[in-house]
Amino acid sequence: MKKIMLVFGTRPEAIKMCPLVIELKKHPDVFNTKVCVTGQHREMLDQVLNIFGVVPDYDLNIMQQGQDLYDVTSKVLIGMRTVLNDAIPDVVLVHGDTTTSMAAALAAFYQQISVGHVEAGLRTHNIYSPWPEEMNRQITGRIACINFAPTESSRQNLLDEGVLDERITVTGNTVIDALQMIVAKMSVDDGLNKVLKTKLLSFGYDMERLASGKKIVLITGHRRENFGEGFMNICNAIKKLAQTYPNVDFVYPMHLNPNVRKPIHEVFGEDLTHSDNVFFIEPLEYMEFVYLMKKSFIVLTDSGGIQEEAPGLGKPVLVMRDTTERPEAVEAGTVKLVGTDMGKIIRNVSLLLDDADEYRKMSQAVNPYGDGKACERIIQALGGIKAQSNQYKST
Ligand code: UD1
Ligand code: UDP
Repeated sequence: MKKIMLVFGTRPEAIKMCPLVIELKKHPDVFNTKVCVTGQHREMLDQVLNIFGVVPDYDLNIMQQGQDLYDVTSKVLIGMRTVLNDAIPDVVLVHGDTTTSMAAALAAFYQQISVGHVEAGLRTHNIYSPWPEEMNRQITGRIACINFAPTESSRQNLLDEGVLDERITVTGNTVIDALQMIVAKMSVDDGLNKVLKTKLLSFGYDMERLASGKKIVLITGHRRENFGEGFMNICNAIKKLAQTYPNVDFVYPMHLNPNVRKPIHEVFGEDLTHSDNVFFIEPLEYMEFVYLMKKSFIVLTDSGGIQEEAPGLGKPVLVMRDTTERPEAVEAGTVKLVGTDMGKIIRNVSLLLDDADEYRKMSQAVNPYGDGKACERIIQALGGIKAQSNQYKST
């Protein structure tokens, strides 16, 4: 019996790790599965745990308002010492590029516990973009001895760094497993769509507006490197676009980070309910968000996970960043990098709203990130792993 501990702490990690928890727990004869959440996020994490019905065995509950990177790193590292001493797992699984993942991987290394990295091998090779995520994923990758790369190009990045091929499994991204679970629920349950519509109304957006021919531009943002000037540009671009296109609704579920909300208030005022076609709403539960994404015309975002989900739903994604570690959808033509320059955001959104050919080109459903079986592949690979060995080629 292998003792596996999954450690995660933010909304996107939870969305991508909960399907794996569910899948692992289907094999109690092979895996003793434990879940530790750091609580780097609180409300936004709990929303996801509820949807997937995952109850953590350990909760470090570290979140504090306005926390910085030192707070998160030190609290996770210290908190994990006790958890690992108590649980003594054979393998710790961490995900992607958050500070939770990096610090939890380090904590496991300090007790010589093998680390498996889910969503391994994504790289921009620019340590300040995204910041601090590129360094987080490189450090986590250096510690891990088992790598679950979502795509062939992420596998290649690891090979280029000298990782042994036998230590890498290409799995697809577990976000597609999560997305397919939700989409499947929606397609068999008509009542669910009505519930989601009502829930969205309670959040402040009425889906009935689409009946009069309106289109939705769905917006999200949270990247640290965009704080300040970047977010001011983004907000000013939304304001201008909303004036130019009164028939388009700009719907923005706001991340809870105060650095995201400050520029929104600076540009749109204290009372955010006053605009005719800009809707600032609280962060949505995953199911409502997927529903809204499906009904949207364009997605404007700096999110990593949304770059993976929206192409599968046939939605063009304009990414408000200068780099991406997810080149696959850019190559397929459904994702485009537009940065945070106000003029460039306006030009690119306008192009998709005005030019049907341009829209058609970007809205073909492609799914380079997986087939919904990533968890299955991870579990298969976990069954055969050799723990605690070096993953690099000897020189
Ligand atoms: C974190 C991750 C980022 C990931 C993002 C996903 C790091 C350094 N950053 O960034 O990689 O892409 O999550 O969303 O790991 N807050 C709440 N409630 C919540 C969540 C956040 O109030 O449920 C507020 C708190 O004031 C908190 C602040 O947001 O201090 C920042 O949270 P933090 O996790 O440090 O940064 P994110 O920007 O969310
Ligand atoms: N998401 C959500 N509710 C929202 C906004 C996003 O459930 O209001 C989901 C979205 O579908 C995706 C994930 O959260 O799976 C992305 O999270 P975020 O953008 O915060 O982080 P990133 O992926 O950039 O690390």
